[in-house]
Amino acid sequence: MKIKIESKESGKAIAHALFFVKKSIQFSSVLSEKATEQAETVLNGMEEGPFEDLEFLELDGQPTFFVNAAKERGLTSLDHLRMAAYRLAKQAKKKQISCVSLMLADAAPEQLKSIIHGLYYAEYEFDRYKTKKQKSFSVVYEIVAQDQAKEFSKIANDVAIEQASISMARDWINTPGSDLTPSVFVSEAEKIAKETGLKIKVRDIKALQKEGYNGLVTVGKGSQSLPYMVTLEYKPAKASKDLHLALVGKGLTFDTGGISLKPASGMWEMCCDMSGAAAVLGAIRTIALLKLPIRVSAILCLAENRIGSKAVLPGDIFTAKNGKTVMVDNTDAEGRLALSDGLAEAGLLKATHIIDLATLTGAMVRALGYAITGFFSNDEKLASKILEAGQTCCEKFWPMPLEEEYADGLKGKFADLQNTGSDAGAISAALFLKEFVPENTSWSHWDIAGTAFVTKPWKYTSHGATGIGVQTLVELARQLGE
Ligand code: BES
Ligand code: ZN
Ligand code: ZN
Repeated sequence: MKIKIESKESGKAIAHALFFVKKSIQFSSVLSEKATEQAETVLNGMEEGPFEDLEFLELDGQPTFFVNAAKERGLTSLDHLRMAAYRLAKQAKKKQISCVSLMLADAAPEQLKSIIHGLYYAEYEFDRYKTKKQKSFSVVYEIVAQDQAKEFSKIANDVAIEQASISMARDWINTPGSDLTPSVFVSEAEKIAKETGLKIKVRDIKALQKEGYNGLVTVGKGSQSLPYMVTLEYKPAKASKDLHLALVGKGLTFDTGGISLKPASGMWEMCCDMSGAAAVLGAIRTIALLKLPIRVSAILCLAENRIGSKAVLPGDIFTAKNGKTVMVDNTDAEGRLALSDGLAEAGLLKATHIIDLATLTGAMVRALGYAITGFFSNDEKLASKILEAGQTCCEKFWPMPLEEEYADGLKGKFADLQNTGSDAGAISAALFLKEFVPENTSWSHWDIAGTAFVTKPWKYTSHGATGIGVQTLVELARQLGE
């Protein structure tokens, strides 16, 4: 796929695309009077009979897509534009149309951004393991921007960078556990560091043991593929001095549950248990390449949760990095143990704001499903920024309570804490994390267990990884840096 921003039509387009909402075309078209009449007839006809999402008609002697961007089903109009652009791109590929012109001169910047995101989503394919790879037909999209060409080119470039990060994150997440082990993930992070010039620090199990990062050690020691902590730092010369955003990602490259073994059905999906770390790595890559004026660190907590003779036993007690002792009541509640070290590390780096992303609880999947990420925060200002950034990015968030009444459930019998608590599973997990949040730090925890990986196609993602989080993190960094 190629996106070209032009001020005028080049005449190379084989087809035009018109976005319509109800009975009107959304962006000004280049249609003749006669074609405008024809278009109106088509749009009026919608009321009379079934009108497909995407009609393909001759107007002005030129094939024209009518792309339905109508608002429906609880999605914002920006999200509908994404879906419309996604469907357009799928059709253009199917019909093998080499150049499509989009008249978007009156589109607002955020509308253009949505459309370009939609076009990119249609490109994503995870076919690494397919012997017969589908040949993808490459389409050129000519975006006619008139006097907005300069601004639109910047948007197109930024979205291209962000979408590349999202696709990388999705590839890592979709890769089976045996092929994306903690050490393979470390190499991926090293590649990103090389590409972006980010500073990187890798701690292996020896360093983790020596420095007391025992959460990660406890979770990861039962596997042949040992745990790592990776810290990436982005420190631009031009940045708001007193602000330091740390992004902490749960990176369980596979979660069998450990000795508290998970049931067999659906266990394969636990290759997605490193989605938090993938999103965080994708986000810092984007933030660095876009040169956003804010200091950001990314901390990836990488481990594999396995059964074996070296695996942690239920009832084992370890001392966490912040000095608190923890009894492992259930080895399947491992994410919070791994993250305890990530949060401590963010404190040592003197972060002012911490966001952690984790496929943390089945309870969150049951509460909010695959369309909404539940998040917790100890700072209302940060929470409202997250909601706003999510909306801008068409990623839905819902605020969850850090209900102190449930904190008692996490008290350990022989240790300070235990890793499971009340029936309110997602809240208990968040309350556990809160025990490791450094003092005087704005913090938010995003439980992406439901939204990171879908088992059937949804909106503009095929089954598998959605890449959730990357965009909202980047947008949040943009807003905080302002
Ligand atoms: N990785 C899982 C959570 C998960 C569930 C992610 C579904 C994606 C989809 C996590 O480590 C886990 O197993 N949590 C347990 C905690 C429980 C034992 C307290 C859960 O939610 O069942
Ligand atoms: Zn688990
Ligand atoms: Zn897990």
